[in-house]
Amino acid sequence: MTDREQNDEPESGSQEPSEASTAELQSETYWDPPAGAGADADVEPEPRGEVARTADKRRPLVQVERLSKVFPVKKGLFGRTRLLRAVDNVSLYVRHAETLGLVGESGCGKSTLGRTLLRLIEPSFGRIVFDGEDITSLSQSRLRPLRRRMQIIFQDPYSSLNPRMTVRAIVGEALQIHKLASSRSEEEAKVEALITRVGLRPEAMNRYPHEFSGGQRQRIGIARALAVEPDFIVCDEPISALDVSIQAQIVNLLLDLQDEYRLSYLFISHDLKVVEYVSHRVAVMYLGRLVEVAPAKSLYERRYHPYTRALLSAIPVADPSKRRLRVLLEGDVPSPIDPPSGCAFHPRCPRAEPGKCDVETPALQELEPGSHHRVACFHPHT
Ligand SMILES: Nc1ncnc2c1ncn2[C@@H]1O[C@H](COP(=O)(O)OP(=O)(O)OP(=O)(O)O)[C@@H](O)[C@H]1O
Ligand code: SF4
Ligand SMILES: [Mg+2]
Repeated sequence: MTDREQNDEPESGSQEPSEASTAELQSETYWDPPAGAGADADVEPEPRGEVARTADKRRPLVQVERLSKVFPVKKGLFGRTRLLRAVDNVSLYVRHAETLGLVGESGCGKSTLGRTLLRLIEPSFGRIVFDGEDITSLSQSRLRPLRRRMQIIFQDPYSSLNPRMTVRAIVGEALQIHKLASSRSEEEAKVEALITRVGLRPEAMNRYPHEFSGGQRQRIGIARALAVEPDFIVCDEPISALDVSIQAQIVNLLLDLQDEYRLSYLFISHDLKVVEYVSHRVAVMYLGRLVEVAPAKSLYERRYHPYTRALLSAIPVADPSKRRLRVLLEGDVPSPIDPPSGCAFHPRCPRAEPGKCDVETPALQELEPGSHHRVACFHPHT
């Protein structure tokens, strides 16, 4: 870790995101949410964390309906091909300037969902709408102009940074591909501005990825994503490979950039505390399906689904009076090749009702009208 990373954070973008005025909102056509995809699209967004950062309540920027991704997998050389349902019938949306947190155990389909909704992986079923345009079947050439607006930040930026390219070339390449600089000098100026915006010194432009620490490499990854002026970024475990002391810096950088550029994030993480801090809303995924989606505060306080309850009970709590009974998750996550019948969580669920939970699949639905808290469970209150 370097002094730079410890002490030299870029200045925070301190201005509040400009909220649309009432008149502006009224002049917008409100998005008409499809059944199950976002009945709460017109809700006032929840404040996130300590700071009342507010998301835009107009039409969602990203919307997916009944999205599924099935991988054919073969066991052994002559084994028969079976279908692995990594993402199963997922409907969700992300508003402008909003963070949707996505949590769930390893292998539950978070990365596949993130990549599928960017069309980095082709969906098997369902529909993806980006800024009002159905992109599900757009050809790659027609998708190209939209690619610029949808970026991804990886857990390990090193593997996605060309080791033979300088930082100037890496960030400049993104500008060239999308023709975002009209001359070499403009490109140079833009790269320098981006590099300094993410908290690196201009000298970094002449250096190679291996010369940087993990946190600095993540800053380069963020600069590259930012270069093309995106609206939506899938942040796939952006801090989990970083030293704990660096994680907060990268999280705060992402939040400042969100405020400054009104970015929307799908924020995937195993760190449930961080997800609570950064997210306006949170979606909980189990075996390819969403089992609970709610404004962050409501989800962390109420945690209706037994799976959410078990996941969140593992978060350490500083105040002993607020300590929760730890709910242990028993058994391994079942295989998505052969998922359990009915509610896929039933073999591990302490509330499972024989004859119902192992037979019927609960729909993701709002518990109380207007609560915007949706749960897929037959016994959410017990
Ligand atoms: N290309 C692929 N071919 C076959 N199966 C795949 C492929 N990609 C992912 N899978 C499977 O899909 C399921 C979901 O994987 P995914 O990587 O999306 O999970 P995840 O929630 O991101 O896990 P983690 O938290 O470990 O990153 C897993 O069972 C995984 O093995
Ligand atoms: S539907 Fe049944 S098995 Fe599934 S989480 Fe609810 S109580 Fe448990
Ligand atoms: Mg993943």
